[in-house]
Amino acid sequence: MNLTEILKRAQNEKWSTGHFNFSESDQVRAVCEAAAELRSVAILGTSEGEAGHIGYLEAVALRDAFRKEFGIPIFLNSDHHKSVDSAKKAVDAGYDSIHIDLSAEPYDQNIAGTKAIVEYAHSKLSEVNVEGELGYLRGESKIQNEKIEVSEADYTDPNKAAEFIAATGINRLAIAVGNIHGISKDEPNLDIDRIIKIRAAVPTEVALVLHAGSGIPDMQIKAAITAGIANVHINTDIRVAYAKALRDELQKSDETTPYKFDSPAREALKEVIKQKLTLFGAVNLF
Ligand code: G3H
Ligand code: ZN
Repeated sequence: MNLTEILKRAQNEKWSTGHFNFSESDQVRAVCEAAAELRSVAILGTSEGEAGHIGYLEAVALRDAFRKEFGIPIFLNSDHHKSVDSAKKAVDAGYDSIHIDLSAEPYDQNIAGTKAIVEYAHSKLSEVNVEGELGYLRGESKIQNEKIEVSEADYTDPNKAAEFIAATGINRLAIAVGNIHGISKDEPNLDIDRIIKIRAAVPTEVALVLHAGSGIPDMQIKAAITAGIANVHINTDIRVAYAKALRDELQKSDETTPYKFDSPAREALKEVIKQKLTLFGAVNLF
């Protein structure tokens, strides 16, 4: 099954795939072991910064190696790539999925750049699944110390979403519905009605993506999935779990062997990923 087929199945059956970021091979192992144990699928993502750290070709090689080891569907996504050039780099390296995020650009430039990547990716391999973004997502993937205000203008407009999809030919759309990257000071309040309206306004073959999944209460995540979200992105929650376990381990001993002091962090990460996949209903898929 390719990613497009899996997203379609998730949308029809009202569960969601999980997307998890990484920059180290240990994190890839944690995601894949968690997904394999739950008979789920693994969607791995690298932002421009994360890909710059691990390398685009290295990320592709890891995906291939883990596919061989686990025999489950594993997909690699270029998360929030902010330029046509960086998204092309991911296509050329062999990513299965491209997220081109030009949402901070003027609307016309967002359309032009996103369409250019859809055409480029599909000319290389028609199976590549391309995500565009419309609406404005604030914050970043960390614990936020300051209050972040979401304004009405940030939200994705359902009619504009339909127009954007028709103009670009994307396979998935990232939407802004009250979600904020990172764990924010105030509890996010997702606009579930807006998700329902966007879902109704756009073609069924286009999947809806909820970014910034960390720090959102479980009930809201479940409601978003029931409303039509087929992919939830998680980064801060797994970064926090990994960093805390690593810090605790390094503080409690003089261990200098990396595979010994970093194993607890990998286990902590794996546990959080299993909780998320279970919350999303992405278990016992095959
Ligand atoms: O693209 C990455 C995600 O949207 C992560 O957001 O750090 O709030 O989980 P998060
Ligand atoms: Zn995101």
